[in-house]
Amino acid sequence: MLIEGKKICFAYDFGGSSFALQDVDIDIAQGEFVAILGCNGSGKSTLVKHLNALLQLQQGELRVAQIDLRNEQEIWLLRRLCGMVFQNPDNQFVSPVVEEDIAFGLENYEVPREEIPARVQAALALVEMDGYEKRAPNTLSGGQKQRVALAGVMALEPEIIIFDEATAMLDPDGRQEVVAIMHKLHRAGKTIIAITHYVEEAVAADKIILMHQGQVLACGRPQAILTNLDLMHAAELVPPLPVRLYYDLRRAGVDLKKCPLTEEELVEAICQLRSKT
Ligand SMILES: Nc1ncnc2c1ncn2[C@@H]1O[C@H](COP(=O)(O)OP(=O)(O)OP(=O)(O)O)[C@@H](O)[C@H]1O
Ligand SMILES: [Mg+2]
Repeated sequence: MLIEGKKICFAYDFGGSSFALQDVDIDIAQGEFVAILGCNGSGKSTLVKHLNALLQLQQGELRVAQIDLRNEQEIWLLRRLCGMVFQNPDNQFVSPVVEEDIAFGLENYEVPREEIPARVQAALALVEMDGYEKRAPNTLSGGQKQRVALAGVMALEPEIIIFDEATAMLDPDGRQEVVAIMHKLHRAGKTIIAITHYVEEAVAADKIILMHQGQVLACGRPQAILTNLDLMHAAELVPPLPVRLYYDLRRAGVDLKKCPLTEEELVEAICQLRSKT
């Protein structure tokens, strides 16, 4: 396992009794695309902040790429290995010029100066933002800003990329752009962890971790999690539209063969129904 956590507990008021995480187990394999779903305050951000030691492990065990999170000496290594993109793109820039912003991160990690221009270029190409080197981040669209923020992360060549609601503030086009890049990085072999409020974005994940009140309520394939109404209800989440329609149709006496997760699957299931009658 690339990421292995057992019985992780965390309280923001250390020693206090209100736990933001309670006995959380987490297993993520190399190259997996994992979506973390849960309502506000369920502990999603708190959990992923442990993965690159933005929060210190208080209780339990956690290993990321064989690095024991109880061993603080290796934190810098971990930060490079495990990049994070946050919700608000505007809070992620330090320079008024795109290429300088990405170079700044590399300088911080003491990447040799002569390597920096090529690394900046490669990172921008990866997120399909080459050509924007001299632009000011504040003149870009939300989706473009997030892609530049992601380029800053990718320039450090991480193995694991965490998106903490990186699409939450974007319009549908921007969201689509960022989601497409997530999947492209996944196809290239990266391990992707995506926290999202949009259940639709979790449909294509390899695995969903469903959180509620600081605990993992369930973990499994999207088909198993998103079509389970009781589970979704317990997590205070609304299932994707095709799932809701499936159950509505069933109540009306129309049984589709399989509960669809996407619009395409829904259309297919309905077409099969017609061809039978
Ligand atoms: N800096 C903090 N200080 C104190 N309590 C915090 C802090 N950050 C989060 N919490 C609390 O910890 C719990 C988990 O919060 P967390 O931010 O991990 O949830 P989340 O699932 O990421 O929520 P959201 O969807 O709103 O981002 C919540 O009860 C929250 O109020
Ligand atoms: Mg959060």
